[in-house]
Amino acid sequence: MCGIVGYIGDKQAQNILVDGLKRLEYRGYDSSGVAVLDNNQIEIAKKKGKIKDLEGVLVNNEINGTIGIGHTRWATHGEPSDRNAHPHFSMDEKIAIVHNGIIENYNELREELKSEGYKFNSDTDTEVIVHLVEKYYDGDLLKAVNRATKDLVGSYSIGAISSDEPDRLIAARYSSPLVIGIGEGENFIASDIPAVLEHTKNYYILEDHELAEITKNDIKIYNQDLEPVEREITHVTWDAKDAQKDGYPFFMLKEINEQPRALQDAIRGRIKENGDIKLDDVVITKEDLDKIDHIQIVACGTAYNAGLIGKKYIEKYARIPIEIETASEYRYKNPIVTENTLLIVLSQSGETADTLAAIDIAKKNGARVLAITNVIGSSIARQSNDVIYTNAGPEIAVASTKAYVTQVACMMLVALHLGRLKGLVSDEKLKKLTTELKQASDHIQKALDDSEELEEYVTANKDHEDLYLIGRGHDYNTAIEGSLKIKEISYVHSESFSAGELKHGPIALIEDGTIVLAVATQEDVLEKVMSNIEEVRTRGGKVFLVTQEKFKDRIADLDKMDKVFFLPDMDDDIAPLASVVYLQLFAYFLAVANGRNVDQPRNLAKAVTVE
Ligand code: G6P
Repeated sequence: MCGIVGYIGDKQAQNILVDGLKRLEYRGYDSSGVAVLDNNQIEIAKKKGKIKDLEGVLVNNEINGTIGIGHTRWATHGEPSDRNAHPHFSMDEKIAIVHNGIIENYNELREELKSEGYKFNSDTDTEVIVHLVEKYYDGDLLKAVNRATKDLVGSYSIGAISSDEPDRLIAARYSSPLVIGIGEGENFIASDIPAVLEHTKNYYILEDHELAEITKNDIKIYNQDLEPVEREITHVTWDAKDAQKDGYPFFMLKEINEQPRALQDAIRGRIKENGDIKLDDVVITKEDLDKIDHIQIVACGTAYNAGLIGKKYIEKYARIPIEIETASEYRYKNPIVTENTLLIVLSQSGETADTLAAIDIAKKNGARVLAITNVIGSSIARQSNDVIYTNAGPEIAVASTKAYVTQVACMMLVALHLGRLKGLVSDEKLKKLTTELKQASDHIQKALDDSEELEEYVTANKDHEDLYLIGRGHDYNTAIEGSLKIKEISYVHSESFSAGELKHGPIALIEDGTIVLAVATQEDVLEKVMSNIEEVRTRGGKVFLVTQEKFKDRIADLDKMDKVFFLPDMDDDIAPLASVVYLQLFAYFLAVANGRNVDQPRNLAKAVTVE
């Protein structure tokens, strides 16, 4: 799980590579390196640590040259260290490669190569690739890389250069993402679009088992038999500024603040004047739907939590039975999936390995797959029958925020669409919900406007060792997501419970001064949650409450809460889009108050492209 970038053109490659790596740092940040070719010689600089540590090496040791490759690593084989950092050299130092993915048969390849006299300088799986390329090299890097990939089992995206061929950069991909950025008199490769968004908005997306031969004026794509492949250009409308911090101290805060806009982008063009739902890339007809007897929702992490809310939406509005499972469980449980199943997958990156495996299983069994993802042309988008792009724009912080909110909004659109196809959602209900969905950005803004007050509260309570979150219905799901955010970025222990389950065990954890974050935005269970809050308070717990204005008069002892935030009145099904923002901000301020690296929390990576 790493990031790769490559450049060929007339400019100095080093700085372009380092800038690209900074934008890919969310994919891995335990070591990084660049290889630049100049005067028929490749020079490599690599360093354990963050990209700024690599910059420290380069500052007194600039590498000149206009073609190069770079890598930011998240260790899988071999500890983070200078020697395990990429790029890796062939023995004669004429070939350098960077790799993202995992080579599963690297042990046996390594033994084989060793017996043939190849010497290894690292503990990585990647190094077998460069030695294989060296072994097969006879003056044509494209052919050698292609031949080497035939020996590999596992996943890879590869960038390779050779000092014998100073005018071309070779790329290959299988099961790890790779895009080719199309410039004028210069071209790029990268693990994702934001890495080189500053230079171009036009891309070719490399598919599995394909290779690319890139010169400064030309890009050729080939299949594994080295036959040329035609590829359409993908044009993105993202602003390069979207991939920068734009004055915020952390990407996460920027992305939290972008949510009102992201939500509008997610629903824009999808709600017709009359309130009807229009989902261009979803071509499920009434007849298709009649054949579907159940839905499965599969995702990982935050995307899974968005799925939990989506499940409730679809069950409510389309009355179709739904199972939901994390992808890592689904893929090994021998799921009951048939041609009558609709599998809905959610994924910010569109590259999560377990989610991709779930799609594979479902498709092999004849199921239809609908993907909700943020990344255009991602593997998940390409492998699904129907796709809804969340349009959240690039999400850089490891902890997902705007992707979550847009996923929940898209799930609402899916639920209404399916409900309409089944004739279960009245014109009136549709109009009300879609109108409210459009207004949800204002409710999110209210939470953002409360940031300062929230920061004050969180900072004053930053030393609590445990935090518990409770809610019922949608609010329970929101609590699950809030608890995940707190764990991910502040490292404070936190757990979420359905408020009704408190009495069945968790209440034993409550003692004098314990903080409980309660979400109470759902009318049908309001009084029930209030009773649970009372149970917490009578045991000395301090309650942080998020609720709606309209419930103000129905909450007794408001003044006895430790802190209360009110959201403007809205339909209870819309509330999860806004209430979660208080919890995202809570987690953010807690992490900041505890001095954490918010955007790159320890041990985590944004795109989990390995199992
Ligand atoms: C990682 C990230 C999470 C994300 C999850 C699923 O664990 O750190 O933020 O929710 O992967 O990723 P996806 O790209 O499929 O949404």
